[in-house]
Amino acid sequence: MENLKGLKRTHKCAALSKANIGEEVVLMGWADQVRNLGGLIFINLRDISGIIQLYFNTDNKDLYEKAATVRGEYVLAAKGIVRMRESINPNMPTGEIEIEVNELRILNKSQTPPFYIEENSDVKEELRLKHRYLDLRRPDMQRKMVLRHKIAKLARDFYDENGFLEIETPMLQKSTPEGARDYLVPSRVHHGHFYALPQSPQLYKQLLMLAGMDRYFQIARCFRDEDLRADRQPEFTQIDLEMSFVEIDDVISVNEQFIKRVFKEVLNKDIETPFLRLPYKEAMDRFGSDKPDTRFGLEIRNITEEVRNCGFGVFTGAIEAGGSVRCINAKGLSDNISRKNVDSLGEFVKTYKAKGLAWMRVNADGVQSPIAKFLTEDEINAIIKKAEAEVGDLILIVADKDKVVFDSLGALRIEVAKNNGLIDEDKFNLLWVTEFPLLEYNEDEERYVAMHHPFTSPMDEDLEYLDTDPARVRAKAYDIILNGCELGGGSIRIFDDKLQEKMFDIIGLSKEQAHERFGFLLEAFKYGVPPHGGMAYGFDRLVMLLTKSESIRDVIAFPKVQNASELMSNAPDTVDAKQLEELGIEISKIEE
Ligand code: AMO
Ligand code: AMP
Repeated sequence: MENLKGLKRTHKCAALSKANIGEEVVLMGWADQVRNLGGLIFINLRDISGIIQLYFNTDNKDLYEKAATVRGEYVLAAKGIVRMRESINPNMPTGEIEIEVNELRILNKSQTPPFYIEENSDVKEELRLKHRYLDLRRPDMQRKMVLRHKIAKLARDFYDENGFLEIETPMLQKSTPEGARDYLVPSRVHHGHFYALPQSPQLYKQLLMLAGMDRYFQIARCFRDEDLRADRQPEFTQIDLEMSFVEIDDVISVNEQFIKRVFKEVLNKDIETPFLRLPYKEAMDRFGSDKPDTRFGLEIRNITEEVRNCGFGVFTGAIEAGGSVRCINAKGLSDNISRKNVDSLGEFVKTYKAKGLAWMRVNADGVQSPIAKFLTEDEINAIIKKAEAEVGDLILIVADKDKVVFDSLGALRIEVAKNNGLIDEDKFNLLWVTEFPLLEYNEDEERYVAMHHPFTSPMDEDLEYLDTDPARVRAKAYDIILNGCELGGGSIRIFDDKLQEKMFDIIGLSKEQAHERFGFLLEAFKYGVPPHGGMAYGFDRLVMLLTKSESIRDVIAFPKVQNASELMSNAPDTVDAKQLEELGIEISKIEE
């Protein structure tokens, strides 16, 4: 193998253009494609910037024979003269030029890779992840990594310009589980004691406000042991921030400026500010979701009053049990959604715990529906009116507890929109959901839990219900939603130690438990806490949406798969008996 002695790279491959014609250049990279035409050899040389064509002919026999030994993914250095190409390739940014090579060094060889290194490969993800270092050589993956870096840099620049300090918070922390499960790290020095990896820097960033840092931000790695999905990884990155002496509008307005800047600089898109703000209740009523996708209609309508006294037991039963009956109007889609399609939508809503899906087609000659026989003409007309339905529309109805109705119709509107091409993929709809409930009742644990986290401040106007009707109290919390994805969230925090203690009490922590877990925070709160608040973005999600990727795995260099393992290195793995012994750990169950 040869080395770089005496050779210095002068350019990246795709940095060259017609302007460089006649110059001698030195390029380095990987052999992307080798075409040997017998007498002529073309090698496409690839580096992070792109691809350029190297040209060899038999005038220099040694050089030609060397070039003939090159295979895909060999690592090359080439010195030569930039010249015009005989046949121009309009599909290649450097397609007008090529390098007439006068020196070639083979810096390394490569086995034949298990898949082609090419744009938009449709190779199975498992294979890609097993050889992620090759997958990352693909131009689309490299562009995603470059963009990820750009957005991180933009975040640093933006928050710096706005008075935020980047401060690192510990990775090894005390475990304070609330929400997801912690990843634990055993201590060698204190057997039986564990650190937890941070689920977020929440407590530390609040303490930084108490410490007078005024504004903090961090591109922070977070760890949550929870079920994975396309937009969830056990290890992910937040753009995390906190501000002192602020209320909701202050946090929202600086962050709208950030998002505006990201869209302008990354996509050259002008985003209108301020963004729409939807109170939680309205988001649920209209979209059945606290992360509504507003790129299409199909809004939910409440028809409880219209059917309260009807003859269909399923509806009246749901209402009597405290639930509701709601619908969406698949506008103009009656002809597109066949009987069979409706049946499969019925199965679809069952995955959201709905017991069934009632439907009503509005035809020119009247209404067609399996439940028409249970309804009077007035009731049918009232439903049609509420659904704003006309001939050609299909009304889809679910009756159940509110939660089931919202979950199923919320998902159904997205399903119908997807199936019928109603989503404009070029749209970026940004909005805030505000006025979340402070608490939600956890049936399994028979206690209230904080909907955001227990440091979130109640809304001033609802404080009076904290003792009498906690479920009614709204929080100073806000989520930012982009095209139906929760991009980030935050809140104004409690800064009164008495209120903080009360909050712990409401979520079922005894005084002792609260002090055991959060004593350091409560102690700190005795020393003059400024009013403060902040938020955190899911950085991976932001990059995923801006690159139109299907999953955050595509924008993370080395992601984990569904069962939280990393296919390339095979983590997690067993460890030596000696390591366990040092940590004072014995394994009682082992999975092979
Ligand atoms: P929250 O828990 O809402 O708030 O997290 C903030 C944002 O982080 C992203 N996110 C994730 N991304 C990928 N994989 C995951 N497993 C994952 N979990 C969350 C989401 C989410 O909106 N400390 C608070 C913020 C605050 O109050 O300031 C917090 O962590 O995009
Ligand atoms: P049935 O009389 O049980 O056959 O139901 C008649 C129609 O009502 C069917 O189309 C069912 O899918 C639908 N249905 C059943 N339960 C519900 C429900 N909870 N909400 C809405 N529709 C339902």
